[in-house]
Amino acid sequence: MDNIYQAAERDRLGFWADQARDLHWHKPFSQVLDFSDAPFAKWFADGQLNASYNCLDRHVLAGLGERTALLFEGEPGDTASFSYSELLAETKRAANALLALGVQAGDRVAIYAPLIPETIIAMLAVVRIGAVHSVVFGGFSAEALRNRIQDAGAKIVITADGGFRKGKVHELKTAVDTALADNSCPTVEKTIVIRRTNSPVTISTMDLWWHELIAAAEPEHEAIGFDSEHPLFILYTSGTTGKPKGILHSTGGYLTGASFTHRTVFDLRPEKDVYWCTADVGWVTGHSYVVYGPLANAATQVIYEGTPDTPSFGRWWEIIAKYKVSIFYTAPTAIRTFMKVGRDVVSGHDLSSLRILGSVGEPINPEAWHWYHDVIGNKNCEIVDTWWQTETGSIMISAIPGAFKTKPGAAQRALPGITVGIVDEAGNPIQPDTAGYLTIDEPWPSMLRGVWGDPERFKETYWSKFPGKYFAGDGARFDSDGDIWILGRIDDVIKVSGHRLSTAEIESALVEHHWVAEAAVVGAKDEITEQAIVAFVVLRQDEIADAPIEADMAQTLKDWVVQKIGAIARPRQIMVVAELPKTRSGKIMRRLLRDVADGRAIGDVTTLADSSVMSSIKEKMENESHD
Ligand code: WTA
Repeated sequence: MDNIYQAAERDRLGFWADQARDLHWHKPFSQVLDFSDAPFAKWFADGQLNASYNCLDRHVLAGLGERTALLFEGEPGDTASFSYSELLAETKRAANALLALGVQAGDRVAIYAPLIPETIIAMLAVVRIGAVHSVVFGGFSAEALRNRIQDAGAKIVITADGGFRKGKVHELKTAVDTALADNSCPTVEKTIVIRRTNSPVTISTMDLWWHELIAAAEPEHEAIGFDSEHPLFILYTSGTTGKPKGILHSTGGYLTGASFTHRTVFDLRPEKDVYWCTADVGWVTGHSYVVYGPLANAATQVIYEGTPDTPSFGRWWEIIAKYKVSIFYTAPTAIRTFMKVGRDVVSGHDLSSLRILGSVGEPINPEAWHWYHDVIGNKNCEIVDTWWQTETGSIMISAIPGAFKTKPGAAQRALPGITVGIVDEAGNPIQPDTAGYLTIDEPWPSMLRGVWGDPERFKETYWSKFPGKYFAGDGARFDSDGDIWILGRIDDVIKVSGHRLSTAEIESALVEHHWVAEAAVVGAKDEITEQAIVAFVVLRQDEIADAPIEADMAQTLKDWVVQKIGAIARPRQIMVVAELPKTRSGKIMRRLLRDVADGRAIGDVTTLADSSVMSSIKEKMENESHD
């Protein structure tokens, strides 16, 4: 295993070129990296390939058509399975259907759908014809969906009549109708509706049924190659400002990163492993480790539509036993939830097929690591804690099974071909065991190619703090063995159950409500979800004469945030305060609010314009928690 580290160290670009050559190129590349227009990178720029061909056609041509690609488990218990040949056949029809609707290379297609095979087929069909998908997680509200459709200028929206969540129908088409109402998204020409729940939906002249389109579509479609730098997808994520940014990934480099890391970090043996990543395709983990990585590697994988607790907390373990899952990839939040339920949750389920366990999305605390290792892995699985981001496209830091001894709680080492550093405020490397800023020091194939429609924001956000280096937004430290420990975000991005949210985005949602004059949102510590949203609001005295009592008001404001952003952004607590703690120059001191939210002693208040503000907030918080 040391060999790939050494190979990458000896010749980094040659190493990446070798990984890229593992893909099928319609036109081989001769150039590896062009960083002359830094920070805009071009990888394998004179080559051409097709991502959908790489995930499907080439496996079928290699005689793997009969291999199972997807083992689908619906929440109500229905199942379906697709071989690589079947997945290819469906994708070809879907590609032809999109072409018949006039979708062209470069056009954007928004996808707002549950985790069902059709959603994956839709993604592969979109990129097959060179169009660009923008998948929006089904947990985002109609308003959030509308903003994303508008920003991407989507021509088509693909959705479903609904999806199953917690035993109920989660209405998606209705949200699309709201998002598109009053001609608010004039670029959208058609909505395609997948039938999943059979629930009643309104079908207008703009709407088409997926199954009818597929049935009517031509079965044959030849995939052509697109330039390596041709855009593959946009995925919106939260940053430090109120407006989510459309992270743009391109074809050759992204697919190289996703497939290389997937087979290496999970030690994939595609002919015998059954792989399961629990992420939704609405997040980057679902893009790289449900769709592109596993399919490019001809893996057999499980996809599950629903929540882990439906009908009971045994559901996931039942699925692992049923399909003999050998590689399992999930988030620490889920592990902590199961820990709380207790180890009985797995009893009666045979988990002996498992050999590799992955973790992603937030730091895994040693306690959760041990539980994962002992209770789920029966002490004989390797755990890989994988650090990466929507922007990095694929895993950057992780152990590689068998390469070295794993350490509970450490993300460990940069993968071969990835160069990371930890620096102080001035950009100088720091000593072991000192906290610093995590940087990526050289361009890598699956790096984001920009922020959709905003090249300046790309430079400013990621490349300006430490010139020449990509700054990820996370704090980290090396230990004395050189292993990396991730310390969490240093900016206003928070992680709630592994979902990435911006405190600024929640604050702007709150101040859009007419009762609210000012809002400050912090991520408070939470035993299960890692962080939870706590909002402090100052009311507009002129607007609240008829407002309900405070408890009801807080409830209304929580619902308001859900309406503006989605259920994943529901604050755990909203506290009405007379004033927010500010410095003399008017800056809100969130650090102090975090102290209150976490129930800690309040830090230094000497820089506050009015130091009594904090004592009244603290007093109020204490009274409320005693209620
Ligand atoms: C955090 C998710 C600690 C980190 C793939 C990063 C992690 C943000 C880990 C990106 C990990 C992700 N240990 N923290 N193994 N993985 N993070 O874009 O703060 O949803 O910046 O991508 O998640 O979140 P995103």
